[in-house]
Amino acid sequence: MNPFLNKLVLITGASAGIGRQTALDFADEGAKLLLAARRSRELAETADEASLRNAQVFTFQCDLSDRTARDRLIEQVITSHGIPDILINNAGFGNYQLFTEESIADVYRMMEVNYLAAAHLIHAFLPEMLKRNSGSIVNVSSGAGKVAMPNMASYCATKFALCALTESIAYELHKTGVTIHCVNPGPTETEFFQAGIWKGTLPRRKAGAADVSLAIRDAIFKDKLYSYVPPKRGLMAVVFHLLGPYGRKVLQRKEK
Ligand SMILES: NC(=O)c1ccc[n+]([C@@H]2O[C@H](COP(=O)([O-])OP(=O)(O)OC[C@H]3O[C@@H](n4cnc5c(N)ncnc54)[C@H](OP(=O)(O)O)[C@@H]3O)[C@@H](O)[C@H]2O)c1
Repeated sequence: MNPFLNKLVLITGASAGIGRQTALDFADEGAKLLLAARRSRELAETADEASLRNAQVFTFQCDLSDRTARDRLIEQVITSHGIPDILINNAGFGNYQLFTEESIADVYRMMEVNYLAAAHLIHAFLPEMLKRNSGSIVNVSSGAGKVAMPNMASYCATKFALCALTESIAYELHKTGVTIHCVNPGPTETEFFQAGIWKGTLPRRKAGAADVSLAIRDAIFKDKLYSYVPPKRGLMAVVFHLLGPYGRKVLQRKEK
């Protein structure tokens, strides 16, 4: 039995990359899709492709950095479709530069999009999921949400916050029918590196959007709190923390 058949799935950041691929894969699973992002043309392209796969699709143009726009999105979703069965907080962006070079506007915007938007949507939908005693939430964080990287201070802070939010809520959901999951990709081949400011060598991308999309469905299906893409990045994070200050020295040396 397909676990995602006829499920109402809300995906943020569905106009590109991981969110777009996740939407198409959920379409193949027979889910009903609610897709949100800022760029309406790209969002419509994802929706058209998902419709060709026989999915019912609805799009919502929304700048998730704007609290009022998020309230509007929540209201539109609830009024026209009800509470999603599955919420995927995927929208996000990052810059790679010294913290002193980061604009304060981006420090705030990154926290709004990468962390507060996820917290806001969870806060809006979770009470009803709990009443129904069913539902799943996936937060797409990052390997940089477990190991702080140089030149990504703002980004890492938002992704650490998202991991902590997920882990804390997971305790609260214990013994309920609602699950929450954190998917942490490493460098993945998407528009991510063009969307933000990137001052430095681009990392080698070891994963594709399809790998992350699969990890998202797998996390729900197998009820995994943390998933890493590729999986060995999870082991690397554990080893890094076991090494303590030595791990940070290695990272610093690698950065030079
Ligand atoms: N690619 C990687 O190497 C990598 C690694 C680790 C984690 N991640 C995480 O994976 C998630 C997806 O990123 P991606 O790699 O797929 O990058 P991407 O191709 O740049 O896609 C990012 C998505 O987020 C949306 N978004 C950005 N700002 C938004 C805003 N203010 N309001 C609404 N939507 C917004 C974009 O849509 P619009 O521009 O249309 O709004 C787009 O759909 C992000 O959370 C990212 O941090 C990516």
